[in-house]
Amino acid sequence: MAGESKGGKESRMATAGKIARDMGEAQASPVGVGAPDVRSVPLLFEESAAGRSGADVAARDAGAPDAATILGATLCRDDIPGFPELSEPQVMRHFLRLSQLNFGQALQFYPLGSCTMKYNPVLNDEMAALAGFAGLHPMTPAHLAAGALELMAYLEAALAEITGMDAVSLHPAAGAQGELTGLLMIRAYHRKRGAARHKVIIPDTAHGTNPASCTLAGFEVVVARSNRRGFLEAAEIRRLVSDDVAALMVTNPNTLGIFEPEIAAIADVLHERGALLYLDGANMNALMGVAKPGHMGADVVQLNLHKTFSTPHGGGGPGAGPVAVKKHLDPFLPLPRLRKDGGAWSFDYDRPDSIGRLRGFHGNFGMLVRAYAFILALGGNGLTEASRFAILAANYVRKRLEPHFPSATAEPSMHECVLMHDLEKRADVNTLDIAKRLLDFGIHPPTIYFPLVVHGALMIEPTETETRETLDTFVDAMERIYAEALSNPEMVRTAPHTLWLSRVDEAHAARRPVLRWQPKDK
Ligand SMILES: Cc1ncc(COP(=O)(O)O)c(C=O)c1O
Repeated sequence: MAGESKGGKESRMATAGKIARDMGEAQASPVGVGAPDVRSVPLLFEESAAGRSGADVAARDAGAPDAATILGATLCRDDIPGFPELSEPQVMRHFLRLSQLNFGQALQFYPLGSCTMKYNPVLNDEMAALAGFAGLHPMTPAHLAAGALELMAYLEAALAEITGMDAVSLHPAAGAQGELTGLLMIRAYHRKRGAARHKVIIPDTAHGTNPASCTLAGFEVVVARSNRRGFLEAAEIRRLVSDDVAALMVTNPNTLGIFEPEIAAIADVLHERGALLYLDGANMNALMGVAKPGHMGADVVQLNLHKTFSTPHGGGGPGAGPVAVKKHLDPFLPLPRLRKDGGAWSFDYDRPDSIGRLRGFHGNFGMLVRAYAFILALGGNGLTEASRFAILAANYVRKRLEPHFPSATAEPSMHECVLMHDLEKRADVNTLDIAKRLLDFGIHPPTIYFPLVVHGALMIEPTETETRETLDTFVDAMERIYAEALSNPEMVRTAPHTLWLSRVDEAHAARRPVLRWQPKDK
């Protein structure tokens, strides 16, 4: 809502508040004592009553020492001022009610572009929760954790096969850390060859983490322009490459959701000048069994297991961003490496050229189990089919929405499509308004205003797990919002109207966040 007058914005907020209140009143029909009013969940502090408790922490075995004996009296306190005191059912209801305020993939269609918010089979969670895996202490010696190490080795091998690369490390904790790992390896590789290089080329469509990782790894970023069709040309890389360029870092499929058709020629241009190709493989959901980064000339690629391989990406949960490399980068992989000696798995720390550790322990292990279970359950053909369905779904949505939301590119879409609209000009309704209105239809909005090269972009990633009916419902909602923006723009501008919370002032929330609860009387 940049550039909008304060008065205009305030009156919009007031209208939004009124509509939300009216709708709220209409919905507030209690069905019984204690029926959850999901529009207002009190804080635990507000529900507290002195002396109430859900647990008897004082009870202990006869003769067992008390905390003060073990820890020393100075480290123990009888009272924590302001600490909420509640019964167990109160706590249970509190958190369940909060969970009902969530928008989540398990409940709603969640086409958040670049995040691959697909349904992830519960079976994979069950595998990760097996006591032998979930209860494994990170300090367990390798010889007592043979099964876990073997699972990691098998997952590495499967990811090497899927990417067409020679070796994999599961070490990085996120896509961005995988990027940093890859770039540090590239830096070490050039240094080892006696020629430090200082620049990394990145296209203007890049994901924001790419330039950030380059800067963190000590490189200077050189921006390559994608052409009018939305992809990189080998000629542009030839123009930019020099003996000081360490690598090109490119996402494929790129952030416009299209395949980089000149990628192999680009790899040749780089390799001729001694530079390497870093392929950001976060969008692997489009490529499994369809195309391999290793065949495109990539020297290093990171994968986001928390997108493609059975852990959802949103919500700030744990991540896993394995890196896969060609042989010449193998010596630089992070420590430790898995090794098999006479049938027994162990960790190898004796690798003098390694870039070392980037994190403690061995990754978010539950995610590795989920990824391996996912790969095993689907098998080669299943993974290929998953990617093909993801591509089909994106192109279906794109085609159906074309009349009012044309694609930002004429190239065929891979796993996601980037769409535009003319509602800003026609009705003073912007992309954020459309996204907020979708919430009223029970649909999580797509990613908006990204990639930056497309004005007012709507980036839609339906994924392979949605039915055609769900995709049609989404298309119908988008069509309805388009029509509504022309006939009743205020309805769209002031959305959402049906949620417990109406439109918030995001700029105010970002600039003056209230992060700490204060008692009312203070
Ligand atoms: C293309 C691309 N690269 C890198 C990343 C960064 O991954 P992470 O959020 O795990 O750091 C993402 C995340 O969605 C991405 O879409």
